[in-house]
Amino acid sequence: MKLARTIEEVRDAVRTARMHGASIGFVPTMGFLHEGHLSLVDVARDAGANFVVVSIFVNPRQFGPNEDFTRYPRDEERDSALLEGANVDLLFLPDVDTMYPRGATTAISVGGVAAPLEGARRPGHFDGVATVVAKLFNIVQPDVAAFGRKDAQQCAVIERLVRDLDLPLRLVFGETIREHDGLAKSSRNSYLDASERAKAPVLHRALRAGEEAITHGIAEVAGIERLMHRVVEEEGGVEVDYLAVVDPSTFEAPADFERELLLAGAVKLGRTRLIDNIRVPRSA
Ligand code: PAJ
Repeated sequence: MKLARTIEEVRDAVRTARMHGASIGFVPTMGFLHEGHLSLVDVARDAGANFVVVSIFVNPRQFGPNEDFTRYPRDEERDSALLEGANVDLLFLPDVDTMYPRGATTAISVGGVAAPLEGARRPGHFDGVATVVAKLFNIVQPDVAAFGRKDAQQCAVIERLVRDLDLPLRLVFGETIREHDGLAKSSRNSYLDASERAKAPVLHRALRAGEEAITHGIAEVAGIERLMHRVVEEEGGVEVDYLAVVDPSTFEAPADFERELLLAGAVKLGRTRLIDNIRVPRSA
């Protein structure tokens, strides 16, 4: 695996790979890697990429002023070893000055699907994500880029970005990789102490309870959201940020239950904020 810290190094490596006929796959991450991230390397390969680039960059622009930017977990050595083991071809590890040199003021504003849920609770978050992802796409110039459905709204934001700015690449999405008890794998799980970790699967349990209600014919947003809240309240010690039934194409409340739905949630355990979602296919 090659390591690049500058934009030039990435461009050189990608140019050489392309000259040899490679199809370029790209997986952007913020590091502290787990199986969820690594699964996306396979997703990119399955989509035809035979030269896979992974970036690790904790992007300051997507963190709010009271969020966890400075304490976000970092472990370059462990991450490189994991990517080496996954046969990744190029690791891009830029620093903040490389991505945002002095005077950088241009940003991308997505709107639409970026406004509700995460967008409403984390002002500026998706603008920061869209800006860094657009920059990374321009640096790597991949044929295909892979994102995880664990961040369902982020996937929709990136789809919008690619369509609205006519970016010449294909997006592919990977399923959420979970721990055995249902907790979605996340770099932020490392913040949890033992008692928080024991409570954390309640988010997934609440979403599953909502799904079960829908499959049993309950077709009322407020009722399902109440049910999901109750599951979390019964656990105790877990604060609900939101638990919502939405239309996955808008992230707003669905007009009816005759379509695919998304159950999405965010909870706080102490200082740690976790998100998760599940899709509920259109009822037969
Ligand atoms: P990060 O949280 O590191 O996630 C990188 C990629 O891994 C994202 O596409 C995310 O959806 C995916 N991912 C995370 N946990 C997953 C899981 N349990 N199963 C499957 N995929 C999972 O998302 C970001 O970084 C940033 O916003 C980024 C896109 C890199 C822009 O800064």
